[in-house]
Amino acid sequence: MKIFGAVRYILAKWKALNKKVLDERVKTTIRSQKYFAISTGLMILWSGLIVMILIWEISHHAVSIGVFTSVISSAGTILGLSQGLSRTFSTLSQEHMIIKHYEKFLSLPEIDNTKREVDVSSPHIVFENVHFAYPNTDVEILKGVSMDFYANERISLVGENGAGKSTIVKLLCKLYQPSSGRITINGIDINDIPVCELKKIFSVVFQDYASYSLTLRENIAFGDIDKIADDTALADAMGQGLAIGILENLHRNLDTNLGKIEENGVDLSGGQWQRIAISRACLSDSSFIILDEPTAALDPVAEAEMYRTFAAVLEKKGCILISHRLASAKMADKIYVLKDGVVAEKGSHEELLARGGLYESMFRSQSSWYQEQDGEVSEA
Ligand SMILES: Nc1ncnc2c1ncn2[C@@H]1O[C@H](COP(=O)(O)OP(=O)(O)O)[C@@H](O)[C@H]1O
Ligand SMILES: [Mg+2]
Repeated sequence: MKIFGAVRYILAKWKALNKKVLDERVKTTIRSQKYFAISTGLMILWSGLIVMILIWEISHHAVSIGVFTSVISSAGTILGLSQGLSRTFSTLSQEHMIIKHYEKFLSLPEIDNTKREVDVSSPHIVFENVHFAYPNTDVEILKGVSMDFYANERISLVGENGAGKSTIVKLLCKLYQPSSGRITINGIDINDIPVCELKKIFSVVFQDYASYSLTLRENIAFGDIDKIADDTALADAMGQGLAIGILENLHRNLDTNLGKIEENGVDLSGGQWQRIAISRACLSDSSFIILDEPTAALDPVAEAEMYRTFAAVLEKKGCILISHRLASAKMADKIYVLKDGVVAEKGSHEELLARGGLYESMFRSQSSWYQEQDGEVSEA
């Protein structure tokens, strides 16, 4: 806010929002207290009327003081009781509002997570004509994506920003459901595979990976919480995730606090947090690993270096590397080029270059960019 001189603007926006929330609260309170208010108002009117009538009667000697007193006291009792009743009604209507939310939650479609086991050692993942639009939007992001891969393959998924690469990963993780078509692993619909089984098959580092303001140990161990006390496994995973330098910097103390919450917390750079996220994925025993834009925070030289190391590290595991930059694609066994919601091209680096299509033109324009950045990295 300071840098952009936006304090006054944001403050005004905050005040407007605050007023909106306050108005909403007043409205809700009025709605839920409606019965209470109406019945109390009627009661006051009614008792006022009775008292006035009685006073009129007394003044005309039609009623004795004794009768007056007993009528007033029993009217008071009735008033108290009916007030209790209307309070109950107002509570009921309040509870009704809460229950409506709960009913909405209960009516969400249920996903059966109890079924089918998959042979996690050699999974074959297939996208069959998958269509998808994000909830509450009309734009179809995926318009019939079909592709397949095995867990020991090195797959590269490329395409421009917004092509739908991250969306494909979200569908594979069951964060969303395809609008039509299906995703299967060894022929079984992923909806029939429990999430814990999916976790054994692949681990994911999302583009907007999480960085937890907890200890380094916890940050890595979330990849497989059973290994939280296993220092060797944690360090190994950090080696695979190219994060061993971070561990050295922290004097090999896995219990260092990271982030800004703890007073002694050490904050890391974007690239370092990303390596922590990759190490987290490496800790899991999954058959393959999905890396969404793993080098977005790196410069071209560091990017080339990272891919070389990955190629060695991921020899045993398969991987899906997702990027709008093509440096990753050369080391892949199979490349899928995504454009306008469909797989526009597929094949190896050489095949796609020879084809002279979209991949070839992307590669040409990007490699000239890499060459301008640094003559050495012309192979990128
Ligand atoms: N949660 C969301 N709701 C609505 N639209 C979204 C959402 N997430 C992404 N999109 C849209 O989907 C398209 C594809 O996004 P994404 O899969 O992230 O692209 P990529 O990873 O290839 O850059 C984009 O146009 C983006 O605006
Ligand atoms: Mg993305």
